[in-house]
Amino acid sequence: MGKPKVVLGVSGGIAAYKACELLRRLTESGHDVRVVPTVSALQFVGAATWSALSGNPVSTEVWDDVHEVPHVRIGQQADLVVVAPATADTLAKAAHGLADDLLTNTLLTARCPVVFAPAMHTEMWEHPATRENVATLRRRGAVVIEPAVGRLTGVDTGKGRLPEPAEIFEVCRRVLARGVPEPDLAGRHVVVSAGGTREPLDPVRFLGNRSSGKQGYALARTAAARGARVTLIAANTGLPDPAGVDVVQVGTAVQLREAVLKAAPDADAVVMAAAVADFRPAAYAQGKIKKRDGQEPDPIVLVRNPDILAEISADRLRPGQVIVGFAAETDDVLANGRTKLKRKGCDLLVVNEVGERKTFGSEENEAVILGADGSETPVPPGLKEALAEKVWDLVVTRLS
Ligand code: CTP
Repeated sequence: MGKPKVVLGVSGGIAAYKACELLRRLTESGHDVRVVPTVSALQFVGAATWSALSGNPVSTEVWDDVHEVPHVRIGQQADLVVVAPATADTLAKAAHGLADDLLTNTLLTARCPVVFAPAMHTEMWEHPATRENVATLRRRGAVVIEPAVGRLTGVDTGKGRLPEPAEIFEVCRRVLARGVPEPDLAGRHVVVSAGGTREPLDPVRFLGNRSSGKQGYALARTAAARGARVTLIAANTGLPDPAGVDVVQVGTAVQLREAVLKAAPDADAVVMAAAVADFRPAAYAQGKIKKRDGQEPDPIVLVRNPDILAEISADRLRPGQVIVGFAAETDDVLANGRTKLKRKGCDLLVVNEVGERKTFGSEENEAVILGADGSETPVPPGLKEALAEKVWDLVVTRLS
């Protein structure tokens, strides 16, 4: 089998430079990428860059290289078309079927999945014309990623930023592997916690844990792909924001609890993938704790942190809400999991075995998902994304 063929459409916005990073990720992971910029995209990044990074010729017009690749072939032969950045103008042309350059021709001839990663000023994104164009494209089966919120060109900030190239790449990888996702979480709001809390001892030290946040980010990313509005509460992960997800950054268990309690009353599902510290230092030293010659260090006194999962499971802030917990165990994994499920009172508990090289920081996971109804769903070793998909499958059945 040859390499999957990807068309990277680039339209004319300042974020075009970020598409170079997306292109590099696509080529390095074994895709044959043909870049199709618009004429205005070349104002930002020149054809030589696209050609050098992709190893393929670059043209903007249907009349270029006609003898080699008729313009219809590029779209026909593609396994995926991704347009990043997609400007308001390109979205409008795509929605209305205009075909006045090579990119718009390619979009009309493509029969493969199409992903748009829009980037524009907030006013343009929110304009009814753009809203309707996006709705039209989604109705026809295209994936339109929600832009990120943040710094735009110049001093403006707001919604309209191109998501991180690494995250656009993740969306492409998922669509290539699994096709355009069923929007079975559309209209739902889900809250996911991720990462590991840090409990400060003094201005420079904390008690922490080895959670990377990757499983929680995979849950957030897959829920967004399935159409959910996602609030990701991230504790100390240092990972790029998943595309189309609202991220709330927290540090400690107490801050995590506040953020969960704020978001949960409006959520159809809450998934607690974060590793929450059970204890925190009883006292916080305002100044750095210093060693003193000839003296033993003072012991660190700990106090219990609130159990967020048990609290939201007991209080059920919204009727019908599905609550999912995670349990990392080292021995008697399933028996401990069952006891924990009862103790926490959640609907599903994802139980995985942890060890030095297992789970923490790795791309893969293996688990059993226990249900309060007595069900047991084994998830074979695989990417954290696959486990995330299984969790949402079980959540969706419980929501409907
Ligand atoms: N959790 C939580 N609040 C805490 C501790 C844990 O909400 N203070 C959540 C985690 O997010 C996870 C689940 O509870 O979804 C299980 O975490 P785990 O640390 O395995 O459970 P513990 O109650 O701490 O049990 P153990 O005695 O095994 O540490």
